Amino acid sequence: MKILVAYISKTGTTEEIAKRIGEILSAKGAETNIDVEVAPIDAVGSVQGYDRLILGSPINGMKVLPQFKEFLSTKVAGSNIPTDIFIISYLFERGRNFWKNAIRKNVESIRTLAGASSVEIFAGRLPGPLPAFARLIFGTPKDLPPDMRDWGKIEAWAEGIAGGMVESTATTPVS
Ligand SMILES: Cc1cc2nc3c(=O)[nH]c(=O)nc-3n(C[C@H](O)[C@H](O)[C@H](O)COP(=O)(O)O)c2cc1C
Repeated sequence: MKILVAYISKTGTTEEIAKRIGEILSAKGAETNIDVEVAPIDAVGSVQGYDRLILGSPINGMKVLPQFKEFLSTKVAGSNIPTDIFIISYLFERGRNFWKNAIRKNVESIRTLAGASSVEIFAGRLPGPLPAFARLIFGTPKDLPPDMRDWGKIEAWAEGIAGGMVESTATTPVS
């Protein structure tokens, strides 16, 4: 079984998360016949030949990056490969409901586009604290740390996917 973890990342956060997800899947894969590759979407010519896709993008301007959407529509949609998506957003958990709803709407459209079986939104990281005017617009508290990543949540999600894959390989009849 071949798994592709593909991501796009502007400031390195989604890349680090993708690599961690890849490590967890690889650790499980070592017990079975699961081969895991982690790569930026730019380096993925085609998704053919993979049995499962785990795809990640950050949110910028309340949407996934346009290149991610393009990747989904040109390379993933219609492939019928089981797909899970992870989205990285700084504001989703702690920003105003208005922004949260905008992000949710975009993420839902992305899930439909890709035909993904699951989508998860994880808290991300900013290069530094948000200035006061931005906190006012986004509704975030002053003491919010720039790095909001919850590694326990990310790892639990990856473990859940890994557990499901190990089960499915265990029940796949050997021909
Ligand atoms: C230019 C820019 C725009 C952003 N816009 C949003 C946004 O609209 N909503 C949000 O929740 N987070 C936003 N963020 C925060 C990113 O989602 C967060 O920093 C994420 O961890 C970045 O991932 P990356 O390092 O993989 O690019 C923005 C960050 C940058 C740099």
